[in-house]
Amino acid sequence: MDKKVTVIGAGNVGATAAQRLAEKELCDVVLIDIIEGVPQGKALDLAEAAPVEKHDAHLTGSNSYAESANSDIVIITAGIPRKPGMSRDDLISTNAGIVKTVTQQTVEVSPDAVLIIVSNPLDAMCHVAFEASGFPKNRVIGMAGVLDSARFRTFIAMELNVSVENTTAFVLGGHGDTMVPLPRYSTVAGIPITELMHKDRIDAIVDRTANGGAEIVSLLKTGSAFYAPASAAVEMAESILKDKKKILPCATYLEGEYGIQDLFIGVPVKLGSGGVEEVIEITLTEDEKQALEKSADAVRELKAFLKTLA
Ligand code: NAI
Ligand code: 2OP
Repeated sequence: MDKKVTVIGAGNVGATAAQRLAEKELCDVVLIDIIEGVPQGKALDLAEAAPVEKHDAHLTGSNSYAESANSDIVIITAGIPRKPGMSRDDLISTNAGIVKTVTQQTVEVSPDAVLIIVSNPLDAMCHVAFEASGFPKNRVIGMAGVLDSARFRTFIAMELNVSVENTTAFVLGGHGDTMVPLPRYSTVAGIPITELMHKDRIDAIVDRTANGGAEIVSLLKTGSAFYAPASAAVEMAESILKDKKKILPCATYLEGEYGIQDLFIGVPVKLGSGGVEEVIEITLTEDEKQALEKSADAVRELKAFLKTLA
């Protein structure tokens, strides 16, 4: 393949993302983890599936960054996931150290890569990677909104018994309990769901979306969601690798857009070969603005906490 993507963290999200990238023949994939044997074993296992799955993507597993040199994209999933009773924010101290280290090692060998951050708490980890990389803001992007919107779409399709392919949805804000699902901008075949569902059903779906991660954690008991998160990260990677210029909700560094300054938070962006090529500003109602501001406050708190760790 003429494109190369490194996935750091060969755990649930990382290995599943590697599988999807290879099976879609988007790129060659390098899987890196700190645990000896795990990235090598998973990469080999995935490579041995290739003849059956009919793709020619090369998969390599390693504990060193040399193999990842000159990657077009690096997806960072390294870190610990939450367990029942934990919030994403409980992960901050451990994961900040991990994300800082892996980012520094990554940029040494792939100075032109676009970084897609997955590790939680997502918006705070984007700040860590942004600072540790020294990259321009367009090349550090957080994955959360695509996942949260996919959950919203799933619940809309379940509620109305329609194809998920007919649905669109937008979730803004930080990747936490304060995220902001936007029913007005969520549609079935172009029809806003506000025309198709009663308010109490929309409220229930919005609530389920905001707690979508916790719902999976409480079922799995040993970790958090990974199939849908991996799909979301790969959709972002595909838009960048193919310069598709899809508009997707992603965590990006805002400098005044939506009235928010110097903060990573989820808003609609255009993703192309340059990473974030444009921040799309949509009109929000007063309630939506307030909800986004509340979500931004939650991210600001985490950003301030990061400063105490140094
Ligand atoms: P996991 O535990 O299955 O995998 C994490 C991997 O990171 C492990 O294999 C571990 O050995 C590796 N790792 C730890 N330190 C490392 C280091 N210094 N260098 C390289 N690898 C290292 O966890 P999972 O389920 O894959 O989740 C990964 C992260 O992604 C978690 O922080 C989780 O909360 C987050 N997440 C974020 C989502 C989002 O929407 N942004 C969605 C799902 C997960
Ligand atoms: C999720 O939303 C754990 O952040 C992850 O599933």
